[in-house]
Amino acid sequence: MKTLTKTTLFIGTIFLFLLGCNTSENKKNNATTETVFHAKVDSLMGLMTLQEKVGQMVMYSGSGAITGPTVNTNFRTYIKEANVGAMLNVYSAKATRDLQKLAVEETRLGIPLLFGYDVIHGFKTIFPINLGLAASWDLDDIEKGSRIAAEEASAVGIHWTFAPMVDIARDPRWGRISEGMGEDVYLASKITKAYVRGFQGDDLSKTNTILACAKHFVGYGAAQAGRDYHTVNMGEEELRNVYLPPFKAAVDEGVETFMTAFNEINGVPATANKYIFKDILRDEWGFNGFVVTDYTAINELVDHGFAKDEKHATKLAIEAGIDQDMMSSANRLYLEELVNEGEVDVELVNEACRRILLAKFKLGLFDDPYKYCDEQREKETIYKPEFLEAARHSAAISSVLLKNDDKALPLTSEKTIALIGPLAKDKENILGNWGAAGDRRGKAISVHQGIQEYVNDAKINYAKGCEIEGDDESGFNEAIKVAKKSDIVVMVMGEDYDMSGEAASRTNIKIPGSQTKLIKRIREAVPNKKIVLVLMNGRPLDLSEEDTLADAILETWFPGTMGGNGVADVLFGKHNPSGKLTVTFPRNLGQVPIYYNMKNTGRPIPANNPKEDYKSNYLDVPNTPLYPFGHGLSYTTFEYSNFKLSAETTGFSDTLTAMATITNTGDYDGHEVVQLYVHDKVGSITRPVKELKGFEKIFLKKGESKTVSFDLSVEDLKFYNSEMKFTVEPGEFEIAIKGTSDFDFEHAFTLE
Ligand code: NOJ
Repeated sequence: MKTLTKTTLFIGTIFLFLLGCNTSENKKNNATTETVFHAKVDSLMGLMTLQEKVGQMVMYSGSGAITGPTVNTNFRTYIKEANVGAMLNVYSAKATRDLQKLAVEETRLGIPLLFGYDVIHGFKTIFPINLGLAASWDLDDIEKGSRIAAEEASAVGIHWTFAPMVDIARDPRWGRISEGMGEDVYLASKITKAYVRGFQGDDLSKTNTILACAKHFVGYGAAQAGRDYHTVNMGEEELRNVYLPPFKAAVDEGVETFMTAFNEINGVPATANKYIFKDILRDEWGFNGFVVTDYTAINELVDHGFAKDEKHATKLAIEAGIDQDMMSSANRLYLEELVNEGEVDVELVNEACRRILLAKFKLGLFDDPYKYCDEQREKETIYKPEFLEAARHSAAISSVLLKNDDKALPLTSEKTIALIGPLAKDKENILGNWGAAGDRRGKAISVHQGIQEYVNDAKINYAKGCEIEGDDESGFNEAIKVAKKSDIVVMVMGEDYDMSGEAASRTNIKIPGSQTKLIKRIREAVPNKKIVLVLMNGRPLDLSEEDTLADAILETWFPGTMGGNGVADVLFGKHNPSGKLTVTFPRNLGQVPIYYNMKNTGRPIPANNPKEDYKSNYLDVPNTPLYPFGHGLSYTTFEYSNFKLSAETTGFSDTLTAMATITNTGDYDGHEVVQLYVHDKVGSITRPVKELKGFEKIFLKKGESKTVSFDLSVEDLKFYNSEMKFTVEPGEFEIAIKGTSDFDFEHAFTLE
């Protein structure tokens, strides 16, 4: 750091005060505000040395929630040297204030730090994991959940979340499938927007809004063999039609930041990939927020075999359009030198620094760098009762009823329940991976506690039975005993929370340990009793065996802090299940990757003879999954009828309306996710056999009917064609309105 005198500090402080003034006045009009911010950034940059500018492009981690191999503990020194622009893994009003003070009071210009954190599915109040939230198909609820997460996170000093993760994922081996929205492009794009709205709110200068971050750009979900960080090879068609759209949706919704992916894509690591960052993100989409690397991703360019050393890696990253370095120390160590040597154009540093400062202005940190560090607010905000209530609701609406033979569910409070399984009393795994600051064990409500709200204790016969992992069977006898003396068996089983998430890929997607064996033993011991399997897991599992053993299966993912209550609400029918899968559950791992919107191939299987030789099928299992995308049962039944189209032929400037009547034909009131699918029969690039193009979640009282209609314009039918033009092509389209992706089309229209 240059010599720091009291006078320069004073000048800096006065200058920053002036910069901060008038911000509220200028909020009347976004464009004006933006222009004013730019002018302020320019004035500030006029005062900055090259080293100070580079400092803004550096992020270090504090000691919480570490996700990489290294932590550099010298961050306090670096902050005081104006060598740090942002910190991650530091939170609490007090801790962030302490560090902020170093930046504001002990550096020449006093530029405030940004505090980032992985607020993935809640901060203190933990919501269901993201794959679960997606299964609610409830955009308002997802937006509300991320608004709550932002409320809590901002109250502990956090300005920025590294979320949403918008990677399309179609491989259940990949542990990070739990953090995304599933396999579908349309749905993921809608959900992405809901998260961004929730985190960023309508005005970033408010103290309860935080920057969102679309990650990981791009292709991370397509890691070979589902192994984390692994290579990605992908043609332009798949990249543009499947993996890019949710990121584009984030840009359209005004997301402020992007994070690079760890993987290489077609031979070029994402963190040094000019094509995706410069050509697509900046030039094509006009993104003007800033880009942060993933954890130590610049250094990793050396291991990728793309950079000869870390200095070279630093040059490659900035030249690809990457603004901030998370944890590599690369920018801090080499960037100034690279500019001085003429190896890196100083304008690249200026641009990156400008974007980062702009975000700080938008947050109002120059008005008040401590505005997010209010201990009183922290106390009042965390775990507000209405947040917990919202989390309970999200847990209920995220649960998916995969099977329910002979109306095994809902439970009634009259019967005695054998409550068995390693997750029945669990208060730790229930938060799932990326539990942020959620209190594992302490605050979480277990399924056992949730059930206790409905049933008197004397009617619950509990036995753990076994652990999540390992082959110990010593608890089996006790479990069999409680099953024998109860009317119905509820088994709460699944994965450990850290069997999904980052660096948690599996080559076996069955329920781990001896759990399935225990279900089998109980089935044998009480052949005539109903067995309800309640699952917690972070990925689609191979449930082929459990499907033959249990009468009902309720997929609750990891349902969060209030999971036990939300799940019990579903088990006892207070909440009629309405979740639908957003990711396919295969029959076995050999079918992977399997997703509903696949291509037809030149040898599709005939409907009447799926095993026909020389067709695209398997010798040992059908092509169909165990539970398809869009599947999810209710305690009631819904009938779809009266499908109608406003026209059979439609023009390029027309809007086509498709409608159907949905009737609740069962015994309970309930919600249904009505789904619109289209199949573009012929394209200059082959089109998927089905594509989701709309959905609506409706509520129907028993006996009630509603007509649901969807408007389709050519915009909805566009795709990147053989010339990589985003366009629509004339021809025949099949269309359907259904409650699952598992159906055959019966209707069509022509676009001319
Ligand atoms: C690595 C993960 O890939 C990324 O998603 C996360 O935001 C960072 N670590 C920071 O924790």
